[in-house]
Parts: sequence; structure tokens; C-alpha cells
Amino acid sequence: MNILDDDGKIKQLDTLNMLAIEENFADQLAEAQKIGAAADITGIRGRNFAGIAFLGMGGSGFTGDIIKSLLINRSEIPIVVIKGYSLPAYVSRDWLVISLSYSGNTEETLTATEEALKRDCEIIFISSGGSAEKIAQEKRKCIIKIPGGFQPRAASGYLMIPLLVVLNKIGLSSVTEKEIGDAVKLIDVLAKEYNRNIPFKDNPAKQLAAGIGNFLPVIYSFESELSPVAYRWKCQINENSKTPAFFNEFPELNHNETVGWERLKNITKEFVLIYFIDKEAPERINARIKITVELIKYNFADTIEIDIKGKTPIEKVLSTIFLGGIASVYLALLNGVDPTPIDKINTLKTKLAEL
Ligand code: F6R
Repeated sequence: MNILDDDGKIKQLDTLNMLAIEENFADQLAEAQKIGAAADITGIRGRNFAGIAFLGMGGSGFTGDIIKSLLINRSEIPIVVIKGYSLPAYVSRDWLVISLSYSGNTEETLTATEEALKRDCEIIFISSGGSAEKIAQEKRKCIIKIPGGFQPRAASGYLMIPLLVVLNKIGLSSVTEKEIGDAVKLIDVLAKEYNRNIPFKDNPAKQLAAGIGNFLPVIYSFESELSPVAYRWKCQINENSKTPAFFNEFPELNHNETVGWERLKNITKEFVLIYFIDKEAPERINARIKITVELIKYNFADTIEIDIKGKTPIEKVLSTIFLGGIASVYLALLNGVDPTPIDKINTLKTKLAEL
């Protein structure tokens, strides 16, 4: 029996139930939508902002990348994502700052947030607690409190959806509640296809994990809201599957990386190229992807094409996050790895705290 069809083995390896959290993504999204609808945004509604700055790291900061990519084409104000300690000089008191930290204790995010407070920026915190919650209460700032007890990367629905709902209420996002609701329905359908109970031969998420197997995945997207999702796949494969992975995006990669695949074939033959294809993307982008894959595919062990599901951008984003997330957990299990622990990140944070 394929190990991914062996629930006993899965339970043994997956000590903290990461697979179940992934399987329940639709429920998390639906609950997150309610949290967003109930958020108190008094004092923020009706204000005009000069820009939006998302502050956050890792699994939290990724939310900023996704929301920025969903809003950027319609937004009349600049949107930036800051992943580090420093707040750029142009972020001033008429900006909306969104401080994202699932734990509420990430030092880079807290440092940049302190600076935003000094500059008297309007701030929305999103967190499950920690110092972020204390600061928000002390400074009487809006906080969207989300449920605790998850790994930050497994709480992407809680981090993303309430913010999208709130930004829509403030008039800064055109992603509607109806679009989010429809996306949740799509995830619900996909959850039935990707569930552990669906055998390997009929389960695209298990097959994707097996396609990666012991190869090093290189994930290619194209300039769109799917680019941060390719980055998310890389991070999920790093953290859940404890596997190195890399990502890049078209068209930029055509101006450098494409040439880089010419040498070191004895190393890159252990790599698998995964690329996203959205049939609704501009024809020229899809032609570019196909030509590139033809040019470089012999330097990889294999190539895997991912057909993007969904009609709206939010459906495409969530369905692709979902597939990558659950496949990264299957990849961990396939290789005998417990998906939840991230010992190296925890050790680093502890050592830094001791300095
Ligand atoms: C852990 C994870 C990490 C954290 C990051 C920041 O599951 O995904 O990338 O997100 O270390 O911590 P938070 O999200 O608590 O601010």
C-alpha cells in the first residue's frame, strides 16, 4: 500500500495533525470571513490613506504579498510589504500600516511596528496574541484577534481573509465578500479530492507530492497574484517537508535564470521543474512559459505542469495555496518527516532572545 493511503502510518508520523489542519482549510476560511465581518474598524472607516504598508515575516508576512498582489492593479495608492526591521522613510502618518504577526512576538515585525507608532501612522494589528495584542490595547489601536494554537503558516486563512474583508469595508479592496464566499465553496469541493481518504490513484495532491519525491523543486509562476503563491509553495515545502526549494517568476526569469540551466546538469538532474499555467492568462505569457520549458526541461529530472483552478483571482490564489499546502504535507509524510516541527527556526529565535 502507498504510505499516503495508510492512515495509521500518517497518524503516527503527523504528531500534531498538520494534515487535518490543511484538510479543514475551507472551514478556516469560512470562520475567518466571520472574524473579518465582526472586526471593529471604528476610526479607520472613511479615512483617506496615502499608502498601505504590510509589516510581517514568514507565514504572516506572506499575507501581505498576497493581498498586495490582489489589490495592486486597482489601487490608487501605493502598497508595500516590509519584511524586516526598518520602515521606509516614505511611510508617514497618513499611511495605513498593517502589522501582521500570528504569534505577536516576532522581533522584526514589532520593531517596524514601533517605528510606525512613533510616526503616528494608523495601524491595524492582526495576531493571535503576544506583544502585538498588548501594544494594540495600550495604544488603543484596532486589532483583529485570530484563534491561537496553530503554526503561523497553517493559519494563512485566518491571517488573510479578515484583512481582505476589512480592507473591502474601508474601500481599499475590490475583493467582495461574495467572491470570498465562492472561493470557500471551491476549496470545499477540492478538499474532497485532496483528502487522505481519496486513494493515491485518484488524488492529485498525493500525486503532486510523489512527483516531487526526492527531487529538489523549482517552482515557476508568472507576474500576477500567483507569484506570491509560488513563493508560498517554496516556503511550505521548506517548512512542512523540510526540503530545499526555489521559486522564480516569468517574465523576469527569462532575462537571467533561463541561461543558468546550461551547466551543472549532474546536479540539476535531481531537480523537478514545477510551473503554473493559467489558461486565462495572456496568450503571450503562456507561449513564453511553453517555449522556456522546452528550452530547459532536459536539465531537470522531470517537469510538472499545474493547471490553475478557479475563475476569480481570489479563487485562483486560494485553490493554489491549498494544493501546495496539502501536497507539502503529503511530501513530508512520504519521506517519513513530521510536518509540524520547525526546530531550526525555534532554535534561532531562542538564541537571538538570549543575546
Ligand atoms: C512558522 C512560520 C514562520 C513564522 C515566522 C514569523 O509556522 O510559518 O515563517 O510565520 O517566523 O512568526 P509570526 O508569524 O508569529 O510573526
